[in-house]
Amino acid sequence: MTPNMSLFSFPTPILFGPGALSELPAHCRRLGVRRPLVVTDAGLLPTSAFQALAETLGEAARDKEWFTYSGVHPNPIEQDVREAAAAFGANHCDGVIALGGGSPLDAGKAARLLVKRPNLDFARFYDEADWSGLAPFIAIPTTAGTGSEVGRSSVITLDGTRRKAVLFHPELLAKLAILDPKLTVCLPPKLTAATGADALTHCIESYTCPVFHPMCDGIALEGIRMIVEALPRAFRDGGDLDARGKMLVAAAMGAVAFQKDLGVVHSLAHPLSTICGLHHGLANALCLIAGMKFCAARKSGVYRRVGLACGLELFRCADAEADGRTIAFLAQFLEGLGLKARLGEHGVSAAQLEALVAHAIEDPCHKTNVVPVTAADFRNLYLQVL
Ligand SMILES: [Fe+2]
Repeated sequence: MTPNMSLFSFPTPILFGPGALSELPAHCRRLGVRRPLVVTDAGLLPTSAFQALAETLGEAARDKEWFTYSGVHPNPIEQDVREAAAAFGANHCDGVIALGGGSPLDAGKAARLLVKRPNLDFARFYDEADWSGLAPFIAIPTTAGTGSEVGRSSVITLDGTRRKAVLFHPELLAKLAILDPKLTVCLPPKLTAATGADALTHCIESYTCPVFHPMCDGIALEGIRMIVEALPRAFRDGGDLDARGKMLVAAAMGAVAFQKDLGVVHSLAHPLSTICGLHHGLANALCLIAGMKFCAARKSGVYRRVGLACGLELFRCADAEADGRTIAFLAQFLEGLGLKARLGEHGVSAAQLEALVAHAIEDPCHKTNVVPVTAADFRNLYLQVL
């Protein structure tokens, strides 16, 4: 594509509403899926969300007409994807249904790549041009955070480098995303907060990312408004279906918006997961305020419309004050969700600092940050939150 052109694309059909899961069998038939592989993680198996899926697909047909791979790790690794693809082949499956947070969704998405090319070396993923004809993929999130259900990428930690590799291709997109708030009511408050903070960070970073995409900008700002309104309610009362529904949609909106790209906070967060094992949403939450202060100090006024989306009255104040009040509001917002802590309280040590910096500078997200970021900047930012 020539440099002065943009491609705007919002292609994923989304079925939303309490009880939307009941429509799954009809959509499987429509997509020609008769023997689906359900990809999930072990933590999901005893939940009411998995039970609802099993009942929808038919308990009697389990391991006969639909199959389960439940070995996905919290930050999915290459082995998860290889095992899921092996289960797909061994059971003669013809489609993938991923149930869970971002990890099962990303692993389920990527497993279809190995079904098409069993000898694929993920490190050479971008050498392959033709990914047409992948097995149909249906995404059913049980968290409201990553928005992987509408994303065209899969983030997998590769065996060789221990870095998160982003496998990006439009063919990875789901044929259908089912957003059923009833499936998220069991999510405990801590995970509700952490995954919601991920969605919030997607909206903020995609909005401020300097790529021309006014459609995504509008989606990101409305996503911020919805998260500010609904996340505290979902955190306090997990059974609030209205708040759960708004968070599911806002998370999908955040992921739609970040087709623009992301920024410095995600580059800080990714190594905290791969090196230190932090939950992705938590890592973003703990770095968000420091990252925003860094950006605002270099580009005054960058967060005025973010603050307006939060409901602040910022029309008449100066740029620096608009940024300051927005950042102060969000710091308090995260604190109210129990997301105020130093990295050290989550097991990150100063001895890991240089490895974190080395990985962060290699991470692609900050390349589209609103202002440039150097290795020295990353070191300073980590030190502020360590
Ligand atoms: Fe994220």
